[in-house]
Amino acid sequence: MAGSCLKGRFLSVFDYKTEKYIVAKNKKVGVLYRVIQLSIIGYIIGWVFVSKKGYQETDEAIQSSVITKLKGVSVTNTSESGLLVWGPEDYVIPPQGEAVLFVVTNFLETPNQKLGYCAESPKVLDGHCRVDRDCDKGKMVVAGNGIMSGRCLRKDESSNGTCEIYGWCPIERKFKPQGPLLTNAENFTIYIKNFIQFPKFKFSKSNVLETTDDSYLKKCRYDEELHPYCPIFRLGDITQRARYNFQDMSTFGGSIGIMISWNCDLDKGYSHCHPQYYFTRLDISVSNTTIATGFNFRHTRYFKNATGESYRSLFKVYGVRFNIMVHGKAGMFSIIPTAINVASGLALMGAGAFFCDMVLLYLMKKGNSYRERKFEDCRSKKSTSEDNSVEDKKAAMEQENLTF
Ligand SMILES: *[C@@H]1O[C@H](CO)[C@@H](O)[C@H](O)[C@H]1NC(C)=O
Repeated sequence: MAGSCLKGRFLSVFDYKTEKYIVAKNKKVGVLYRVIQLSIIGYIIGWVFVSKKGYQETDEAIQSSVITKLKGVSVTNTSESGLLVWGPEDYVIPPQGEAVLFVVTNFLETPNQKLGYCAESPKVLDGHCRVDRDCDKGKMVVAGNGIMSGRCLRKDESSNGTCEIYGWCPIERKFKPQGPLLTNAENFTIYIKNFIQFPKFKFSKSNVLETTDDSYLKKCRYDEELHPYCPIFRLGDITQRARYNFQDMSTFGGSIGIMISWNCDLDKGYSHCHPQYYFTRLDISVSNTTIATGFNFRHTRYFKNATGESYRSLFKVYGVRFNIMVHGKAGMFSIIPTAINVASGLALMGAGAFFCDMVLLYLMKKGNSYRERKFEDCRSKKSTSEDNSVEDKKAAMEQENLTF
């Protein structure tokens, strides 16, 4: 034995070395090894390949384009504005049909504003005054509506007043919305056209059903099961799916996220790749304080009268903001990830064998005898097994340390 080891040092590189196996007739370790093998095979097949599709190459760099279009008409009748008809060109801001859009559900109009002099609102703290000196001529009112003219306007000598300003007069009256004015906004529909591409696989698709039936888009409504390719949603259904009532949101406004998720297994074919829609309300705060809830902003419309004088209508609009987000990934069979996953599975098997070795050699009662078989000593030719059996054991121990 020892001699062969020495000789081994001079083995030619052209010799093929094969491993030698020791069969341990130990039922416990044998069963343990099979259990480990089975669970590794189960993990590789069940989790890595079937569940995580480890045989696929994936592309998560989805490229997408979204176009939106709203339909629906509402009529409002208020004391300031009279009878107004609201079409999509009026209530969708901006009107281009972008992926982020705002739908007006409630508004306050301040009509016929003209440039001129009037009193600042008493709600603006910086506009308060007692005497003319408090209103610096030419200075802006902080968080106010215009430039101070230098006069303090008071009801009588003894009371406090507000500075006179130069700006768009009359200034906006403060109000708290009582209820939504565009009451049937929940029956408006939104058409979301979404084109996507996975550049790695040269795959492209749209969320609109490919049909020659022209009337399909006129009458269909989205439904998860029945019409997954119908891209038309009722606004009330969208908030319903996000678990909020449209009427509750429409008085003070809110923000809704529409997620379009493309999760495509391209091995299954073109028709199995279809979008999934998820809806959430985005403007919820945990603390539920009323000071920051809702969504509103102001915008203006300018006119000129017959004499060429400019005037404007100021709108403070409340509404629901829709934010359409697209994400997704696609997978397709590829030999490289398959090979990598198979190889890592085999390496795991090796780790299992190593673990069983440890159990066999160090935890079993007869571990010693297995160890003696497994680790052979390389000694010089002169030494015999009798005269230095102690050294023998020491060397064996050292070799073990080297091995593990
Ligand atoms: C929305 O449309 C339905 C059916 O056409 C109608 O019953 C309902 O009253 C409408 N809702 C509003 C707020 O106008």
